[in-house]
Amino acid sequence: MSEIILRRATASDEGNIFEWRNAAETRRYAFNPDAVAWEEHVRWFKDTLARTDRHLLIGELDSKPIGVLRYDVVNEVAEVSIYLVPGCGGRGLGTALLKEGNTWVARHLPQVTTLNARILQENVASRKSFAKAGYVESFGIFKYHIFSGTIIDGPKVKK
Ligand SMILES: CC(C)(COP(=O)(O)OP(=O)(O)OC[C@H]1O[C@@H](n2cnc3c(N)ncnc32)[C@H](O)[C@@H]1OP(=O)(O)O)[C@@H](O)C(=O)NCCC(=O)NCCS
Repeated sequence: MSEIILRRATASDEGNIFEWRNAAETRRYAFNPDAVAWEEHVRWFKDTLARTDRHLLIGELDSKPIGVLRYDVVNEVAEVSIYLVPGCGGRGLGTALLKEGNTWVARHLPQVTTLNARILQENVASRKSFAKAGYVESFGIFKYHIFSGTIIDGPKVKK
C-alpha cells in the first residue's frame, strides 16, 4: 500500500471539511451527531486554523484526501479525533491514519506525552482501529503514550 501523507489543513480545505463533517457516516457515532450549519462551520474553521493548541491534519493517499485528524492539546495531553472521508471506510485506513498521527505528534508536538480518545461503546470500528494503532483502554478512555519523541507501543507500556 502507498504511504499516507499528513499535512496541516489550510483555508482551501474549508468546503471539503464541511461536507465530510456533515456526512451521515461521520455523524453516526459522534458525541454531537447534529449537522453543522455553514455559518457555524466557517466560524469554527477560522478559529481552528488560528489556534495554536489545535492541530487539524488531512491524511492523503496517492494525493487524494482519505481522512481527518484533530489534536487538541492541553499541556502534555492531546485529545484526538478522527474520521475518514466518506467512501474510504472498511479498508483499515482508520488504523493507518492513527499510526501516522502517532508519529506526527511525536515529531511535531514534543511536549505531548499522552494521546487520549473518547469513543462511544457501540463504535466498534473505531475502538478496533484505535486498539490496532496501539491505544489501550483505561477507565473508558483510549490512551497512547509517547516518551521523548520515541513511540512506545500502547500494549507494551507498563502500568
Ligand atoms: C472509525 C473509523 C475511522 C474506522 O476506520 P475504518 O478503517 O473504516 O475501520 P474498518 O471498517 O476497517 O474497521 C476496523 C475493524 O473493525 C471491524 N468492524 C467494523 N465495524 C464493525 C462492527 N459493526 N462490528 C464488529 N466489528 C466491526 C472491522 O471488521 C475491522 O476489523 P479488523 O481490523 O479486525 O479487520 C471510520 O469508521 C470513521 O471515520 N467513522 C466515522 C467517524 C468516527 O466514528 N470517528 C471516531 C470517533 S471516536
